Amino acid sequence: MKILIIGSGGREHAMAWKVAQSPRLTKLYIAPGNPGTAQCGENVALNVHDHAAVIRFCREKQINLVIVGPEAPLADGIADALTGAGIRCFGPSQAAAQIESSKAFAKNFMARHQVPTARFATFRRLSDALAYLGQVEYPLVIKASGLAAGKGVILPETKAEAESVLREMLEGGAFGAAGSEVVIEERLTGVEVSLMAFTDGKTVAPMLAAQDHKRIFDDDQGPNTGGMGAYAPAPILTAELMDEAFESVLKPAVSGLWLEGNPFVGVLYAGLMLTPDGLRVLEFNCRFGDPETQAVLPLLATDLVEIAKACVDGKLVETEIRWKAGAAVSVVLSAKGYPEKTQTGQLISIGVLPESAVCFHAGTKANADGRLVTSGGRVLGVTAWAQTLPMAVESAYAAVGQIQFDGMQYRKDIARQALFTDLKADGCAKRKSGFESGWLRKAEKRI
Ligand SMILES: Nc1ncnc2c1ncn2[C@@H]1O[C@H](COP(=O)(O)OP(=O)(O)O)[C@@H](O)[C@H]1O
Ligand SMILES: [Mg+2]
Repeated sequence: MKILIIGSGGREHAMAWKVAQSPRLTKLYIAPGNPGTAQCGENVALNVHDHAAVIRFCREKQINLVIVGPEAPLADGIADALTGAGIRCFGPSQAAAQIESSKAFAKNFMARHQVPTARFATFRRLSDALAYLGQVEYPLVIKASGLAAGKGVILPETKAEAESVLREMLEGGAFGAAGSEVVIEERLTGVEVSLMAFTDGKTVAPMLAAQDHKRIFDDDQGPNTGGMGAYAPAPILTAELMDEAFESVLKPAVSGLWLEGNPFVGVLYAGLMLTPDGLRVLEFNCRFGDPETQAVLPLLATDLVEIAKACVDGKLVETEIRWKAGAAVSVVLSAKGYPEKTQTGQLISIGVLPESAVCFHAGTKANADGRLVTSGGRVLGVTAWAQTLPMAVESAYAAVGQIQFDGMQYRKDIARQALFTDLKADGCAKRKSGFESGWLRKAEKRI
């Protein structure tokens, strides 16, 4: 199969790395890719927002499958354009992608399908939003409804702050169109965990749960980032909680989208919070998470191409998805000044990595002399996998020791929170196989 992956970050390098291992692959292109993906296939300088150009490229190269990494092209309707042109696309339609691209849609959708989530209301008019602030008693979170590159969520400390945030979003143009509608929701407390799942729109197969580390410094200190590291499986999502997430979140979400006429094909990502009152969905994403994917894909034993193809062909129910025992840890090496004032252009040196480790590229590029330099905030995702989580941690940090660039910063505590927990990875792995979706047959009858 000839495959095109769309995107250019650490997630896409992890996807390309996994796809490159597929016995089905004959040729891999990545658009636009990065120096890491260039080791897995051929990077192509396509403007992925120009759907006609992407379609032309796919026809010319006889691409059999397009796999979309980031949310923006999906929200743009790239899957619809490709599918309309008869090109298979692993990634949801624009309508299904609303589960991420509109937080207002996602919250109302969850309410329609009884998916557990924080109490909320959505607003387009400032006066209504301000009036609502006066009515609620509990602490709040304010979210720009549209895509805001992870910056559109504010946890105001006071009512005055909440008011000014609402003013900025609804009248001040903060976040542009993404902030023209807001979600105000109840602030929850608890541990966060990411649960991604493959789905063909009818069947859903969960992946291993993962945990991200959002703050720049150890012990969750300092400002938020795009994610400083991840590990999988996350033992906090016990077998019971996995069952609960599967039954109360993944199944109703996938069947709900199907029943509403927007079947979701691709990776559905549920951002969960384990609150004292039970599991709640903070958000859905319509694609692989980053950096979680960098820790999850190395543990996937099944061919990713086979899974993606099964999803696109509506045959996920026939595909057995297997996971390796053990754990994986991904440590993000970020650039000097990240996240506030990222400095780029520093020379990167990568030594010999331990076995079962890989260095995924995110913010790197080749300079004029062809040498590898930093070109973004999150530079590399250093991932290692092993039989146990402590071994994976040790190996990941040994790999980090092989890498240098000026101003390199990284967290020393990735996965520490899970180190002393019994992993029970085997139990998780068994649960996460493809399954027969009896619930769907019922749903199909209802349509
Ligand atoms: N209802 C909530 N209660 C407490 N914290 C929240 C809530 N919603 C979001 N958060 C925090 O804000 C972060 C970002 O919110 P999320 O909905 O995931 O948006 P995005 O990833 O698009 O920025 C979450 O990871 C979580 O830490
Ligand atoms: Mg999030």
